[in-house]
Amino acid sequence: MEPLLDRLGRPLETLRISITDRCNFRCVYCMPKEVFGRDYAFLERTALLSFEEIARTARLFAQLGVTTVRITGGEPLVRRNVERLIAQLKEIRLAGSAGGRGLELALTTNGALLPKLAQPLKDAGLDRITVSLDSVDDATFRSLNDVDFSVERVLDGIDAAAEAGLPVKVNAVVKRGVNDGEQLVQIAERFRGTGHVLRFIEYMDVGHTNGWRLDDVVSADEIVKTIGARWPLEPAGTHRPDETAKRWRYADGAGEIGVIASVTQPFCGGCSRARLSAEGKLYTCLFGVKGHDLRGPLRLGASDEELAELLRSVWGRRTDRYSELRTAETATLPKVEMSYIGG
Ligand code: GTP
Ligand code: 5AD
Ligand code: SF4
Ligand code: SF4
Repeated sequence: MEPLLDRLGRPLETLRISITDRCNFRCVYCMPKEVFGRDYAFLERTALLSFEEIARTARLFAQLGVTTVRITGGEPLVRRNVERLIAQLKEIRLAGSAGGRGLELALTTNGALLPKLAQPLKDAGLDRITVSLDSVDDATFRSLNDVDFSVERVLDGIDAAAEAGLPVKVNAVVKRGVNDGEQLVQIAERFRGTGHVLRFIEYMDVGHTNGWRLDDVVSADEIVKTIGARWPLEPAGTHRPDETAKRWRYADGAGEIGVIASVTQPFCGGCSRARLSAEGKLYTCLFGVKGHDLRGPLRLGASDEELAELLRSVWGRRTDRYSELRTAETATLPKVEMSYIGG
């Protein structure tokens, strides 16, 4: 099969599917309470794609070359019966795989509901999981999630995932003056030697409600220097050309960390990610302003061939490379919210 390429020659390989715009946390940098309060208009239930509609769309994407699907939110685990969606996605076979290889299924979560859901997710066919945890200092973490959720309970969720046999990554968004410096060393210490891959993320200007300022960003270089001063680090190469993270290995063999440097070292050149919102809008960049509606055609009886043609034409016209073009002005553009599009 000819790979489907965008205008900059990038193939379509990963589909990130947001299954809800709701979340049980109110992280200050993502869903600040002043904006996402009681009166906030979340998507109505009927606006959300059903699991059948999601699975059909994912099947079409797999036929066009997608090999990995990542489920996101909001917080994906607040959507009821999410494990049933995983089971439906696991049925999908990849294009041109004679042996009938299935999609690789990953999920990004805040971990709160993992003690209950890790095993059902694993049993349904989830391949790996990423848990967001920005600090292991309880007071800092409680003030970041802004719903007074303890670090301990997220750590329990991580343990539950590991016990269920899911490979675990931990994502920590770093914000200047909040969890930089010694706090970075503390998180690293907690996950060294556990086999979980800890990734530090440069704070990004997604959405327009979090009041992002360049001064809030701690660069990947600074993060690596801070951790490396405590435990020497060596570069660890790359797994995939479209990887978000630069990998580093502890020289003493205690495992690896990653840094996701979307601000200081953008990685648009290899970006093979499409994003589907919970209401069925297709975005070809995290920083997209407008999505392409798939729900309309899905519900109006479009054929698989018609839908596939739509996907091909959207990807074929893609020129996005927002992070490479970022300036002080672009940071104030009316972009979609992270909680809507799922990171
Ligand atoms: P792996 O497949 O495990 O490498 O996961 P991932 O890094 O692709 O996904 P994850 O949900 O763990 O995202 C980690 C961080 O990278 C989050 O802050 C995302 O918002 C950010 N991220 C993911 N994909 C992109 C992207 O295409 N562009 C930018 N700028 N950031 C991204
Ligand atoms: N910058 C960087 N990462 C962010 N995330 C949420 N908001 C931001 C931001 N402004 C992270 C979450 C989660 C991942 C999907 O994106 O913490 O780990
Ligand atoms: Fe929820 Fe994740 Fe946003 Fe925090 S970063 S509010 S956990 S969606
Ligand atoms: Fe891909 Fe857009 Fe992120 Fe660049 S900014 S890596 S094009 S999603």
